[in-house]
Amino acid sequence: MFKHPVNTNGPSQERLTASTIMQIYKKMHYDAVGVGPLDLSGGIDLLRTNGGKSFPWISANILDKQGEPVFRPYISKHSGNVEIAITALTGKANTIPQDIVIEDWQTVLPGLLQTIGSNRENTFIILLSTLTNTENQAITRKYPNISLIIGADSHQHNSSPKLYNNTLVTQTEKQGKFQGVLEIFFGTERKWGQERKKELADLQNNLGSLNWQLRRLQKRAANADKKDRYSISITRLQAEKNGLEKKIATLQEAIANEELSKSEPDRFEYRFVALKKSMANDHEIEDLLKKLTQQIRELHKKKATPGKRSATTQQQAATRLAGSVVCNECHARQFAFWEQTAHSRAYDTLVQKDKNLNLDCLPCHVTQDLYNSKVNPELQDKALLRLPAILLSVGCETCHGPGKKHITAPEQFQMAARVKEETCLTCHTDDHDDNFIYETKLQKISCPAG
Ligand code: HEC
Ligand code: HEC
Ligand code: HEC
Ligand code: HEC
Repeated sequence: MFKHPVNTNGPSQERLTASTIMQIYKKMHYDAVGVGPLDLSGGIDLLRTNGGKSFPWISANILDKQGEPVFRPYISKHSGNVEIAITALTGKANTIPQDIVIEDWQTVLPGLLQTIGSNRENTFIILLSTLTNTENQAITRKYPNISLIIGADSHQHNSSPKLYNNTLVTQTEKQGKFQGVLEIFFGTERKWGQERKKELADLQNNLGSLNWQLRRLQKRAANADKKDRYSISITRLQAEKNGLEKKIATLQEAIANEELSKSEPDRFEYRFVALKKSMANDHEIEDLLKKLTQQIRELHKKKATPGKRSATTQQQAATRLAGSVVCNECHARQFAFWEQTAHSRAYDTLVQKDKNLNLDCLPCHVTQDLYNSKVNPELQDKALLRLPAILLSVGCETCHGPGKKHITAPEQFQMAARVKEETCLTCHTDDHDDNFIYETKLQKISCPAG
């Protein structure tokens, strides 16, 4: 729901966005949504009120003070004769609402799996987990009856399904940049099968190369004066070969038995689908997003109205900045060049998209004092919404630093001509510019000399 923890009560851009996300999930007919630690930061009521009773929030380890689960601990669905249970575990959070506890998975899982009936042969258990990848792997060792863990470890991106013990573990990149599609073909028993034949092929490959090494050594030993030199290696390889042959025999037997008993294991196929901007929008959802844009505008309009401007926030935002127009007086060539670049139109771009009162967009599409780390973060939002018109573009001072003193005494207060790559990267992040190459892009915006 959120990119950062939100502490504010009352309406805010983050809360409006979160409730729209919930509406969209409902429209998309999600069966289950695991509660993540950041989701809690807006308070339990936000999730309950906006999601409504019918919203499929799942968490087995978020408990109230009486030890009762706050959300549904799991849901059941059927596919043929397979019973699918979807449960969720919430990772630890730094700040959580006062009235709840996030219980350890070790405490919750045994009872939960019993309630679900994990021992029944036809139960396929899916765990949505916001625990770390290490914890997920520990779960696969202790609870092989869990067939699938869909993780959300923030240190992992798209990770293809991997088998740990009898559990498949996978996850997609955070914040919906990809859709993970995992198709499961249920067999007659809840065991993952696909890997067995592949494993056999791998072992047979290894055996082939071992045999080759052995033959080579044996040949050398036959022709050498000091045969002892090779005997240790030959014995080692021979032992390795015996071990491999045993493994292969066991595996072949298992595969043959499977085929005899007609017991077919579960199989899967998967892919990740990149969600590109160019993809067509669903109309209903597009309407919800337009409504959100409208709501954010309404919310911020009051804060941004000139009549209510507070002098402090404006001063704060602009204390060291002069705006770009005044630079024109002495640096007309550079000004004329800058006017041709996209930086001069960055705010207009937001206006065209109806996003100029949106706090998610403003920081990179206006001029801020990037060189001043002391701007009070609490005033930041208000300051952004109330920037004076002269700062509504990615102006000169974004790159050259604050210029208020320079315009009064240029020789005494010098400006930096060079611009470091880090400065560009505050805005040209991976999320907003996926092909930023400093040298190439620098050329495009470097002001002319003179
Ligand atoms: C009143 C005239 C004047 C104004 C207004 C002015 N500058 Fe300058 N600027 C100068 C002069 C003169 C120099 C050369 C100073 C020196 O080298 O000692 C200079 C130098 C610079 C340099 C350094 C160039 C170099 O090669 O080192 C940059 C960058 C710069 N100005 C940016 C700006 C920006 C941005 C603004 C608007 C905020 C601005 N200036 C406004 C007169 C002005
Ligand atoms: C304050 C944020 C910010 C900083 C800092 C910044 N940019 Fe940009 N840049 C933008 C935005 C926003 C756009 C897109 C503007 C638009 O199209 O509305 C952009 C566009 C560009 C473009 C496309 C220009 C064109 O005319 O087609 C280039 C190239 C570029 N930036 C290079 C750089 C380089 C190099 C740096 C560092 C020296 C830098 N930018 C620093 C925000 C920034
Ligand atoms: C972290 C900084 C950052 C934020 C936040 C940001 N942008 Fe940008 N935006 C950029 C940069 C950098 C570019 C230029 C990218 C390039 O040159 O390829 C850009 C380009 C654009 C463009 C023109 C290119 C395009 O892709 O069509 C639009 C439109 C745009 N941004 C809209 C938005 C909107 C709407 C938001 C808020 C939802 C937003 N931006 C938030 C940095 C940002
Ligand atoms: C996106 C970053 C960026 C913006 C915005 C920008 N500049 Fe520059 N500017 C540069 C770079 C890069 C150079 C070249 C530095 C070098 O030569 O290494 C430069 C060079 C200059 C120079 C020195 C030219 C010389 O004589 O060598 C001046 C003066 C200047 N800019 C003024 C301005 C003014 C005025 C504006 C606004 C109208 C502006 N710049 C906007 C990045 C920027």
